[in-house]
Amino acid sequence: MNRSKNEAIRQRDLAVLWHPTTQMKDHEWLPLLPVSSGQGVWLTDMEGKRYIDAISSWWVNLFGHANPHISAAVSEQASRLEHVILAGVTHEPAVRLAEKLVDITPPALERVFFADSGASAVEISLKMSFHYWRNTGESGRTRFVTLSNSYHGDTLGALSVGDAGLFKEAYEPLLMEPLVAPSPDCFALPPAQWDAHASSKLAEMRKIFARHDGEICAVIIEPLVQCAGGMRMYPPSYLTGLRTLCDEYRIHLIADEIAVGFGRTGSMFACEQGGISPDFMCLSKGLTGGYLPMSAVMTSHKVYEAFYAEYTSLRGFLHSHSYTGNALACAAALATMELFEARDVLADNRVLASLMLDAVEPLREHDHVGDIRQTGMILALEMVAQRDPMIEYDWKQRRGMRVYEYAMAQGVLLRPIGNVVYFMPPYVVNADEIRLMAKVAMGGINLATKD
Ligand SMILES: Cc1ncc(COP(=O)(O)O)c(C=O)c1O
Repeated sequence: MNRSKNEAIRQRDLAVLWHPTTQMKDHEWLPLLPVSSGQGVWLTDMEGKRYIDAISSWWVNLFGHANPHISAAVSEQASRLEHVILAGVTHEPAVRLAEKLVDITPPALERVFFADSGASAVEISLKMSFHYWRNTGESGRTRFVTLSNSYHGDTLGALSVGDAGLFKEAYEPLLMEPLVAPSPDCFALPPAQWDAHASSKLAEMRKIFARHDGEICAVIIEPLVQCAGGMRMYPPSYLTGLRTLCDEYRIHLIADEIAVGFGRTGSMFACEQGGISPDFMCLSKGLTGGYLPMSAVMTSHKVYEAFYAEYTSLRGFLHSHSYTGNALACAAALATMELFEARDVLADNRVLASLMLDAVEPLREHDHVGDIRQTGMILALEMVAQRDPMIEYDWKQRRGMRVYEYAMAQGVLLRPIGNVVYFMPPYVVNADEIRLMAKVAMGGINLATKD
């Protein structure tokens, strides 16, 4: 009787739904997880089996599922005003949230433009940067620079400025062509070499800036961690150096903190670790604590001023999404920000982060774990065919999938990226849950690498 509940919903799903980033044929052998409820880090399926959400539901959840404080705020807001057009209209939740974001982000970010997804925030930052240069008499600036192995979303503009091979290949004929600078990714390097490595990659960036002087609008980066690119990490010194370089060549710096913002890397925003203010900062995911789709593009007074003119000058930024500034999402975001103020979340996360690292210590000597890396609340384990010299597994072997299946059976939702198994749990995870996550990941890695 119970068994049929999971199966019944799976069958109804497969008859009508098309899932994101999924080859649907995989579901001929890979069962969907039918979630009926969530509480804290736990998800429960239709038959009562529980799973730890070790990946914060694609990195959006910060303070657990069904968080009482956020739920109450959303429900209170829903009883007063759910949504209203934001063009020509304002409301207090949108104003309060904008004030809050200006307050907590790096100093130069003084204006907030709301949107509804990470990709739309990226599109907005690209358009604003291009349009800024046009408005200020430099319409020759039409190019964007991106880092190799970067990911900024799946809409055409965002896809264009990413370097996510598999996601992008089929759509190449439709896309803008960015200039690609080598990523400062410090894969498998000892920490003592990270700064020198980053500095050599800055030198390459300088060459691109010099060669295309006056043609570039902006460089877009994922500060400190290239998440979708397999949780590849680099040091804050790269951010500091890149800011200086952008100033020297008068190029905008777009910090895509969609995945790494709101405490993920150990500071509230990753840019803080490099001591920098970007010209644009894209935020989403954790912004609403994982409750509602919302994003924001933060920028400077200087950029805003370049658009401020008589309507007929056509300098205005004519861009909108219907749900911009949605009041429920604003309420969820404000409640999320309150949770950051209720306790010292970043200090507590430091303890959780070190527990995560301790828990995977047994993998240090594993023949098929080539790299264990961590930045704040993101910990990644890279499975390799051979450690020394390093040989990567062919992606077609889909070893990460084996870990996924094993972990699912053990009650942990892990979703490896290729050969990279990672933890990015909600900040309410406890020590026992971390140990369970790590034990299951280790079991999965043993199984996935045994032949
Ligand atoms: C760094 C980064 N930018 C942009 C996006 C796109 O966000 P969304 O999926 O909300 O469009 C993602 C999503 O994973 C991301 O990690």
